[in-house]
Amino acid sequence: MEFVAYDSILLKLILEVMDNRARMQTKGPLSPFLGKVEQKFGAYLKNLPTEIRGDRLYLSTAFPPVPSKPFKRLVTSQIKRALGFHNPDNLTIMVTEDCQCHCEHCLAHKMGQGEELSKNEIFDVIDQALELGVSQITFEGGEPTLRKDLPKLIEHVDKNKATTMVVTNGQYLTEDYVRRLKESGLDYINVSIDSPYLEEHDEFRGVPGLFEDVTEGIKNSVDAGILTGVLYIARPGNCHRETLERMVNYCEELGVFELMIDKIVPSGRWMGKDVLSEEQEEEIIRFQKEIAEEKGKNLVTNFFQLRRSDFFGCFAGRMWCYVSPSGEVMPCMHVPLSFGNVRKEKLSKIWGKIRGHSLFNKKPETCVYEDPIYKEKYLGHMPEDAPLPYPIEKLD
Ligand SMILES: C[S@@+](CC[C@H](N)C(=O)[O-])C[C@H]1O[C@@H](n2cnc3c(N)ncnc32)[C@H](O)[C@@H]1O
Ligand code: SF4
Repeated sequence: MEFVAYDSILLKLILEVMDNRARMQTKGPLSPFLGKVEQKFGAYLKNLPTEIRGDRLYLSTAFPPVPSKPFKRLVTSQIKRALGFHNPDNLTIMVTEDCQCHCEHCLAHKMGQGEELSKNEIFDVIDQALELGVSQITFEGGEPTLRKDLPKLIEHVDKNKATTMVVTNGQYLTEDYVRRLKESGLDYINVSIDSPYLEEHDEFRGVPGLFEDVTEGIKNSVDAGILTGVLYIARPGNCHRETLERMVNYCEELGVFELMIDKIVPSGRWMGKDVLSEEQEEEIIRFQKEIAEEKGKNLVTNFFQLRRSDFFGCFAGRMWCYVSPSGEVMPCMHVPLSFGNVRKEKLSKIWGKIRGHSLFNKKPETCVYEDPIYKEKYLGHMPEDAPLPYPIEKLD
């Protein structure tokens, strides 16, 4: 089956699905210039799950469906990027600092200082982000479902411009609530799970009974027809083969569309703690491929490989932009540097400051949080007790 993702006189992009796998073809005068992007995206595409709903092809929760206006905007943005103009593809708004969990790794730790953005202020940020060219808006926190007006915030996003996603600990996804989210136009839910073992998950997140609630929440989300993923942050203690196999079975049983594995980052409460070794990363990639072969379809995806320098490179301040609960703008959730506040400056102006900064206007060799200059000059000089994100101008 063929899906036309982009169709202009300069470029035609077609996704063909055969045996549960998508393949990309491009035609038109711009096609030769997209060589590298095409190769990389083509290689990544092979590992993405596919689901056809109506006349649309869903790939990962990381991308808008095909065909759709948001996907077209995403392609336009890649063409502009190949020509040297960067706009963010995804804007993540941390809509609240509140959270009922106490996760051992929480990156949002210390990020909730100051008054939360109001509903109208978030509406304005959404409008500005759409104006900048984003094709996906993600609602996070803290725990986004604790914010009473979340359905209204989702409703505000122009669905002809961007898809919407909620990343949640999943405890409050009751039948009624997910129906409201669906009615508000929500496209994707990603539920965070840190272990397929009930006690381990509850202990890591500091909430007894969480795993059972989350399992119910995932069922409700799948039943409501929202494309539902599980976001699994791999750390040295939870990435053994047996554990991952159990995660795959759990996701399959619940009808989860995608088990997305990302890696733990030494930020927030995980600062200074153990991260994955190279061998563990490679083992996860091998596991992903083996599961795809065994099942005859992709279910497991990994996000960390995408950010490697031989793939797309770090997303911070290039494809990603983050807004803290009080409106501070950061290049990434793991790089707690503020380049300005949306209450005082336009998002486009703040984005321009990120893009012009020496940490972000170069070809990334590593993720910014691994960049020795970031570690020495910036992270190393943030006062320990300071609220985050920390103003960049105090460190430059
Ligand atoms: C900060 S949480 C906010 C949304 C929601 N409360 C949740 O837990 O899904 C977003 C995602 O970041 C992940 N996360 C938190 N700390 C992290 C860290 N140090 N490294 C990598 N991912 C982390 C969480 O597991 C979760 O999947
Ligand atoms: S990771 Fe999410 S659920 Fe856990 S403490 Fe942080 S915000 Fe809360």
